[in-house]
Amino acid sequence: MNDFTFYNPVKLIFGKGQLSKLAEELPTLGKKVLVVYGGGSIKKNGLYNELMTVLREIGMEIHEFSGVEPNPRISTARKGAAICKEKDIDVILAVGGGSVIDCTKLIACAAKYDGDAWDFVTRKAKPTDALPFGTVLTLAATGSEMNAGSVITNEETQEKYGWGSPFNFPKFSILDPTYTLSVPKDQTIYGIVDMMSHIFEQYFNEATNTPIQDEMCEGVLRAIIEAAPKLVEDLDNYELRKTILLAGTLGLNGFLRLGYQGDWATHEIEHAVSAVYDIPHAGGLAILFPHWMRYNVHVNPNRFAKFAKNVFGVNPEGKTTEEVAFEGINRLSAFWSSIGAPETLKYYGIDDSKISIMAEKATVNGKIGRFNKIGKEDVEEILRASL
Ligand code: NZQ
Ligand code: ZN
Repeated sequence: MNDFTFYNPVKLIFGKGQLSKLAEELPTLGKKVLVVYGGGSIKKNGLYNELMTVLREIGMEIHEFSGVEPNPRISTARKGAAICKEKDIDVILAVGGGSVIDCTKLIACAAKYDGDAWDFVTRKAKPTDALPFGTVLTLAATGSEMNAGSVITNEETQEKYGWGSPFNFPKFSILDPTYTLSVPKDQTIYGIVDMMSHIFEQYFNEATNTPIQDEMCEGVLRAIIEAAPKLVEDLDNYELRKTILLAGTLGLNGFLRLGYQGDWATHEIEHAVSAVYDIPHAGGLAILFPHWMRYNVHVNPNRFAKFAKNVFGVNPEGKTTEEVAFEGINRLSAFWSSIGAPETLKYYGIDDSKISIMAEKATVNGKIGRFNKIGKEDVEEILRASL
């Protein structure tokens, strides 16, 4: 484990009926609120009406910005920031999944910046101020509700990058599993794949001697693997929604990453794929991750064997370390297939015509990954294996 400083200031408010806590949290941050949401799921599941009732009761001046798309776009964030400036907004409330929250993070920073919002994503500029914001999460997946990351797509240049800033931590996040009951089957599956992938990115890391972190990662993964198949068959199950919601937050709020950064190459490759083809983030991960694993077993077979034994219960008797490692990866592929995740890029109509472009985008700043640093040709091989 490397030396580290841990900081996470997000107030996490978890459970049924917790929307009422807005009354305590929002007025301390401002009076004019911009409610940011997506394509309308919050209107269908009743959250919008409940939210508006609470906001009116606490006397907020309400402004709205809807239509944030999955894989949120820079043009959308620019529009949101312009509204904040025009209406002199003093606090933002993101209501939705990772896309709405990620977009809100950029809106919050860009609202206090005279230049172009894309500057933050490309690291041309660093935010020096931002509007405060809170979130009401409706989809278990990204962990964006309790981290400082944000992923934005530039639709004109077909680029999709993650960026971060200390200003990107929500002041509070309200997680009521009730609002995740309406998440359809495909998005539920994607969420499960995404949170598991976040844990893999951290588990396969650049450090040694991380027994506590390993146990935490393996434990959260086992709990997801136990709950996920039941949830996919029983989408109205509140208790299972609760487990998966907490798992998504823990997957990427920094607790599992104490003393290392993790690999993250697979995420970079996926961002390049969805920048070009606009596919769901976790659909791409479900396809790519087993291939990243197979490509990298040689780097540290013991690590993969540990994963196989402790996460999927692979029996190592009479097998070589490599055999155990590959059995674990095959078990992961089979698990994701069994819950309905896609297996090949063909599923999204992706062929080999843009492999080089995607690999170029993924490695535009040089080699990626920390468990194993890989370059353009490695990425091409992983993509080709994923077709
Ligand atoms: O737009 P609405 O109508 O709300 O519908 C959304 C959207 O169509 C729907 N949905 C959300 N909550 C729902 C619901 N439908 C019914 N009932 C509900 N309660 O689900 C669809 C997908 O939503 P989205 O927010 O795009 O999903 P997710 O949370 O998986 O976010 C994906 C985005 O997050 C980025 C991804 O790249 C992608 O752009 N990521 C962000 C990370 C971070 N900030 O830390 C890390 C991740 O690795 C990831 O890269
Ligand atoms: Zn992810």
